Amino acid sequence: MDSIYIYGGNFLRGETKIQGSKNAVLPILAASLLVRGTCVIKNCPRIADVYLMQNLLQELGCFVSWAGNTVTVNAFHVNDRRISGESVTRMRSSVMLLGAALGRLGEATMAYPGGCVIGRRPIDIHLSALRKMGVEIEEQEQLFTAKAKRLHGAEIRLPFPSVGATENVVLAAVTADGTTVLENAAKEPEIEALCGFLTAAGAEIEGTGKNCIKIKGVERLHDAKYEVPADRIVAGTYLTAALAAGGSIFLEGAPAGQMGALLAAAEKMGACVTAGVEGIGVDVIRKLKALPYLKTEVHPGFPTDLQSPLMAALSIAQGQSVIEESIFENRFRIVDDLKKMGADIEVVKNKAYINGVEKLEGAGVEAEELRGGAALVVAGLAAEGKSVVRNRHFIERGYENICKDLRNLGADINIM
Ligand code: EPZ
Repeated sequence: MDSIYIYGGNFLRGETKIQGSKNAVLPILAASLLVRGTCVIKNCPRIADVYLMQNLLQELGCFVSWAGNTVTVNAFHVNDRRISGESVTRMRSSVMLLGAALGRLGEATMAYPGGCVIGRRPIDIHLSALRKMGVEIEEQEQLFTAKAKRLHGAEIRLPFPSVGATENVVLAAVTADGTTVLENAAKEPEIEALCGFLTAAGAEIEGTGKNCIKIKGVERLHDAKYEVPADRIVAGTYLTAALAAGGSIFLEGAPAGQMGALLAAAEKMGACVTAGVEGIGVDVIRKLKALPYLKTEVHPGFPTDLQSPLMAALSIAQGQSVIEESIFENRFRIVDDLKKMGADIEVVKNKAYINGVEKLEGAGVEAEELRGGAALVVAGLAAEGKSVVRNRHFIERGYENICKDLRNLGADINIM
């Protein structure tokens, strides 16, 4: 069955190692398309979205192989220009291939990436930025073709610091003619990882992690080796599991420097957090307090991807918490399932009012998307009795082995 069962209600104890970052490795794999040679990418999580990206690269003529968590991509013989609609519509991150395909091939035909349950996920910001670099977009039914005889640098200001649009502009700019200055760029750590990989391949990039990135186009990129950083959202998910179930855990390799907003929230709730270069320790020995108000924001604000997992933990905190979701238009999907477990939550427009209850009861619930599914697992860890989370495949898009990781922390959890 495509499900996970959890017998909850027990404290968590133990330590678990955090996997490589999904949202860092996907643009880095796309970037390997720009290298007429071989790239070795270490610490790649074995997750569905990475396998999908691998398929897209192979459809374009790349050779991709695995050894443990190390992926080797040889993009010397890249030929096709039409990325298959099926894979593209199944995964938003494939739109990241657009910038790399334009840089390598000068053309790409792909389907508009499907929206998903958390929001429409348009790519207008991507396309208007790329047009400024000389890209012409021909729109067809479900497909569009982007063409650029020669990509040239440009001065671009994004109307919103979109992560994906920032990545596409960087990918198109690294081998374009001239210099690109990108204002109001996203500052998520995944942008720094992408620029770190590209710099290792010979790109000339200044200002990553800031809101103005300057990219000086180079003739061509060369072979590169790069290690993907740990996944801050996976680490944050497991931290919320400790907030929900209580206990004392250590998250080995968790990138504490990228997780300031969550760590601050956890401490405000009454958890004892110790963060260092080795990872993050969390001790939760008493019932936690509610958060009077928390708003999701672009980095370094509180990450939207941890909003649902934190909501699961706040469901049993003392008092009323208010979460405002400002990034996606429909990211309170787990509220009904949390209410099935006994939570007391009301949603008004883009705010959720969470009145902490004494405890949650195990129930059968249904994942509808990646982080919401992970949040239901977090709730199951806190709930008394057995919970079953169906549609495990959504969770496997981003978590290499959530059951093993949480069993390392003492949870009674497995696939079924
Ligand atoms: C990335 O998505 C992440 N995905 C998301 O993680 C993450 O939630 C998001 O950034 C925000 O941090 C990957 O990195 C693969 P955006 P992305 O462009 O690039 C709107 C997960 O769970 N927008 O910053 O799609 C958009 O609709 C996933 O791992 C436009 O309107 O995020 C959204 O409301 C979920 N037009 C907001 O901006 C555009 O052209 C943020 O989108 C682009 C975006």
